Amino acid sequence: MLEINGLKVYHGPIEAVHGIDLAVAEGTCVALLGPNGAGKTSTLSAITGTARATGTIRLAGRDLGALDIEDRFRAGISIAPEGRRIFSNLSVFENLRMGAATRTDGDVTGDIEDWLTRFPILGERRGQSAGTLSGGEQQMLTIARALLSRPRILLLDEPSLGLAPKIIGQVFDLIEDLRRDGMTILLVEQNAGAAIEVADHVYVMVNGLVTRQGPAREFGDGSGLMDELTGVHG
Ligand SMILES: Nc1ncnc2c1ncn2[C@@H]1O[C@H](COP(=O)(O)OP(=O)(O)OP(=O)(O)O)[C@@H](O)[C@H]1O
Ligand SMILES: [Mg+2]
Repeated sequence: MLEINGLKVYHGPIEAVHGIDLAVAEGTCVALLGPNGAGKTSTLSAITGTARATGTIRLAGRDLGALDIEDRFRAGISIAPEGRRIFSNLSVFENLRMGAATRTDGDVTGDIEDWLTRFPILGERRGQSAGTLSGGEQQMLTIARALLSRPRILLLDEPSLGLAPKIIGQVFDLIEDLRRDGMTILLVEQNAGAAIEVADHVYVMVNGLVTRQGPAREFGDGSGLMDELTGVHG
């Protein structure tokens, strides 16, 4: 369970998030939707510890406030960041190994092999530098790498951005599979319809505040969110 209360997030003197509450129950997928500049990435950055924030963030009852980025990672926070930030000069295999850098158990190679089997396209390219992969392949690699730390919660920042419709379908199929396997997921998306379909619960953020939240089924296909998502409000 991830529990956020009264969260404010700052970039220098700018307050980007103005005090939000958000919860992700164990084994559920929560979608965080909202227009450009709403504060979605800022919220994820506050969770990973890369942005300055006030308020409380608890993971499985543990207050993360005093922990630095690395300790939060060790505590079980893992992110597939916006823009597929893979290590382009490292091979597919090496990228996956980086994701497991903090693990001390002996199963890392086995886990990597599992992912390479699960995504034959990555398996075929295991020795190839990651920068040569297509956008969709890089997104799969980014998510697989984030999972190699065996996180308690997976944060996904716009995994479908810039991908062709067919590839977007594959990314959402993967998210659906992960959820079914019991992974806890906080999914930031602009693709509201697809996100609502895989999510259990939805939050809508506009201008640094949560304007609406509820069970995913209350949001239908997301078409009722048009005003909020295009930033037309008030
Ligand atoms: N590093 C930064 N320095 C200054 N301002 C920032 C920084 N990062 C974000 N902001 C500002 O904070 C606000 C929220 O940005 P954020 O990136 O969290 O939005 P977002 O909801 O993720 O948008 P998008 O959908 O475009 O990714 C914006 O006004 C943005 O300009
Ligand atoms: Mg963003």
